Amino acid sequence: MADSHDKIARHVAIIMDGNGRWAKRKHLPRVMGHRKGVEAVRELVRSLKDTEIECLTLYAFSSENWKRPEEEVDDLMNLMRKFIKSDLPEFIANDVKLKIVGDWQELAPDIVEMLEDALDKTAHGSRTLAVALNYGAHAEIVQAARKAAQVGEINEESIAANLFTADLPPLDLLIRTSGEVRLSNFLLWQAAYAEMLFTDVLWPDFTPAHLKDALDQFAGRERRFGGR
Ligand code: FPP
Repeated sequence: MADSHDKIARHVAIIMDGNGRWAKRKHLPRVMGHRKGVEAVRELVRSLKDTEIECLTLYAFSSENWKRPEEEVDDLMNLMRKFIKSDLPEFIANDVKLKIVGDWQELAPDIVEMLEDALDKTAHGSRTLAVALNYGAHAEIVQAARKAAQVGEINEESIAANLFTADLPPLDLLIRTSGEVRLSNFLLWQAAYAEMLFTDVLWPDFTPAHLKDALDQFAGRERRFGGR
């Protein structure tokens, strides 16, 4: 049996899926789904203080998302710019520390600059919001193995120590919205022992109450980490 400490999810990650379908159902342009998706992110981050989550990692833009139509990529990047600008003061006020996982230095120079500023200004926050930008797990594992090889032996510890998430608590719970049941190259290494939760709720409709429900379900699961 897991002891009570195991029942608390310290690190939760979410694949935020279903913005497009949400918009389609409402006969709105896709961008409206993404905009509503950002609002869902904002509410969720605000609710973190009511949970014991130390780190929330959100899949905002995968390295595969560049294949989307240029207009949609532009919309997502513009939403990112707006989000950083509008929500940075709130992060600072609420003790949220921003972290970016992925090859974010390859984003547009103005976004890189905004992110560097945001990372700098939130560096002392106690609760982490990790945003995956231009992220792909295969590329992450390859670069971690390369870095590990440069300084010594390649083993589980040395690879883990060179992942973007090296300084974060182990991943406890991974949630995907919108009914799709796959990992889509997200946190593949980190998910080895994570609990998975798939919900039909579309991302723009995902509320802090849904997160609370997910945490309750997590608390009810028994994690054996391969033992019995
Ligand atoms: C998936 O919906 C969602 C994305 C590809 C992007 C997620 C981005 C946001 C919620 C907004 C930006 C985030 C931040 C942190 C500012 P989809 O378009 O694949 O939906 P569909 O599968 O229904 O078409």
